Amino acid sequence: MPIRKIAHIAIAVLDLNKQIDFYKNTLGLEFMGQETLVDQGVKTAFFQVGDTSIELLEPLEKDSAIHKFIEKRGPGLHHIAYEVDDLQASLDDMQSKGVSLVDKSPRTGGHGNQIAFLHPHSTFGVLTEFCKPMGHR
Ligand code: CO
Repeated sequence: MPIRKIAHIAIAVLDLNKQIDFYKNTLGLEFMGQETLVDQGVKTAFFQVGDTSIELLEPLEKDSAIHKFIEKRGPGLHHIAYEVDDLQASLDDMQSKGVSLVDKSPRTGGHGNQIAFLHPHSTFGVLTEFCKPMGHR
């Protein structure tokens, strides 16, 4: 179950607009747009960097997972997402190797992509996502 590339690196932020300004105008990255994911409790913004992207995540409300993360660890790096060809097969492969899963089966994330998270207890504290892009990105 090969990992093809880093799909995105996600960063938890408190003020999406300020951070968009930094990534777009200070770093000069290519802004790809933003999206509100109500069911995940986040507003996101994407920037293309070569073959991968940076994803900013701002919590929509105080009980969202991103808000809890920021309260505990502060704003900053949140997760790394790896692109895989067959998400369920990759999850099964991880489970067979003793890795705990947050998501035992794929769910729909931003851009309609299929995503699933591995449990950070099994990944030495680095929240790790597997991602299968669906169509247009
Ligand atoms: Co992600």
